[in-house]
Amino acid sequence: MDNVLDLKVVKLFVDTCHQSWLKGWNERNGGNMSYRMKEEEVAQIRHLFDFSGEWRPIGLTVENLAGEFFTVTGSGKYYKNVLREPENNICIVQIDEKGENYKIVWGLCEGGVPTSEFPTHLLNHSIKKEKTNGAYRVIMHAHPANTIALTFLLPLEDKVFTREIWEMITECPIVFPAGIGVVPWMVCGSSDIAYATGEKIKQFDAVIWSHHGIFCCGQDFDVAFGLMDTIEKSAEILIKVMSCGGKKQFITREQILALAEPYNVPIDPGMLD
Ligand code: 13P
Ligand code: ZN
Repeated sequence: MDNVLDLKVVKLFVDTCHQSWLKGWNERNGGNMSYRMKEEEVAQIRHLFDFSGEWRPIGLTVENLAGEFFTVTGSGKYYKNVLREPENNICIVQIDEKGENYKIVWGLCEGGVPTSEFPTHLLNHSIKKEKTNGAYRVIMHAHPANTIALTFLLPLEDKVFTREIWEMITECPIVFPAGIGVVPWMVCGSSDIAYATGEKIKQFDAVIWSHHGIFCCGQDFDVAFGLMDTIEKSAEILIKVMSCGGKKQFITREQILALAEPYNVPIDPGMLD
C-alpha cells in the first residue's frame, strides 16, 4: 500500500465523518471522532508514517493505550471538508510507552492538532478497552439538535433520559439495553468532562453532554454511528410529541422489559424504577 487513504478503515473513518455531516450533527467544527487502530491495519501503512514529530502531553495517563495508534479528527477542522481533504482534516497519532504523550505520524498536512476532546476520547477508550476486552474501538462526539433540545426540557438524570428515549421507538431498549447517561453542563475539552464522562461510560455506551451534544462508543463505526442515529431519532420523536401536546398513551415498563427475552438483550430494569 502506498497511500494511507487507501486503507479500508481510514476510508470508513472518512465516510463516517461525512455521513455525520450529512445528518446535520456537525455544524462548523462541531464534533470529533477517534478510532483505535488494529495492529494489522497499522502494519499495512506504518512505512508511510513520519515519526520525526515531537511528543506532546496528553494531559492524563492512559497506561493500557501505550503504543497504540489512533485515527482522529483535527481540532477546529470542519466535518464538511473531511471527505474532500482528509489529509488536512484528520490525523493518525501514536501514544508513547507510558501512555502520557502522543505524536502525530500522519495527516493534518496543513498543520493542526487532534481534537480538543482528545484527552476525553483517550480516557474513555482506555475504560472501554478494559471493560470490553479490547472489542470497542470507536468514539464519536457530535451535536445532534433534538438530543440537545431535550437537555433544556427534561431533568438531567440518567433514568429520565433513558426512559423517555427508550419509549419513543420500540427498538431503543434493544439497541442500548444499558440505557443512557447524562452529565451536567461542563466546559468542553476540560478534564472535568473527561472524568465525568468516564464515570458514566463504565455503565453506558452513550452519554449526553447537557446543552452540548452526545458522546457514543462501540466496537465499530456502524455500531457507534447507529447508536447516535437511534438516540437522535428518538429524541426527534419526543420533541414532536411534546410539541403536539404530550403523550396520550405509553409503552409500559412491562412492555419494555418484555423485549429482553425474545431479543436476548440485558435490558436494565433498574433504569425503569
Ligand atoms: P474540536 O474542533 O476541537 O474537535 O471541538 C469541537 C467540539 O465539538 C468540542 O466539543
Ligand atoms: Zn462538542
